[in-house]
Amino acid sequence: QGKVYQFKLVLLGESAVGKSSLVMRFVKDHFDEYRESTIGAAFLARSVQLEDDVTVKFEIWDTAGQERYKSLAPMYYRNANCAVVVYDITQPSSLEKAKAWVNELQRQADPNIVIALAGNKSDLEARRAVPTQTAKEYAEESGLLFFETSAKTDTNVTKLFDEIAKLMPRD
Ligand code: GTP
Ligand code: MG
Repeated sequence: QGKVYQFKLVLLGESAVGKSSLVMRFVKDHFDEYRESTIGAAFLARSVQLEDDVTVKFEIWDTAGQERYKSLAPMYYRNANCAVVVYDITQPSSLEKAKAWVNELQRQADPNIVIALAGNKSDLEARRAVPTQTAKEYAEESGLLFFETSAKTDTNVTKLFDEIAKLMPRD
């Protein structure tokens, strides 16, 4: 069965952007229209078969986006190998919040952390308020992976985690 590599991944972003929904889609292939806001943080794990002899196991910390939990975040990103910072393409303020998380990670997290920016709710194209190009340019400038995703329609969710897995060090 080859080698198994384990990585800690943290999800960060404003409340209601869809962090828990992305994790539920990735881990359980399931979506809820009415998901309750996360309290504190939730832990889930999933393994991805990258090649015949390479398995990557993600240990995922899904943090709570509500402001009152903000001080807990460093506990979850401190030892993280990778981070997914999520915003909602219909809410420009959530991209600003995502940028603040990216800054904090780049200053305080492991210097080798791999960061992906995810513009979620791409199914809500009619309500889009953040142009793809705006976020893409920011991601390029900042050295982030970038995907627009939909937990609802299962768009780019596997791709997001796969591309992160491919960038993880193997030794
Ligand atoms: P906190 O736990 O409060 O930080 O929020 P969160 O970022 O975990 O958001 P959550 O996954 O709870 O989703 C918030 C709401 O957005 C829920 O009602 C979801 O059903 C909805 N939602 C999540 N992802 C999508 C998506 O891709 N498309 C659409 N249309 N709705 C989504
Ligand atoms: Mg949540």
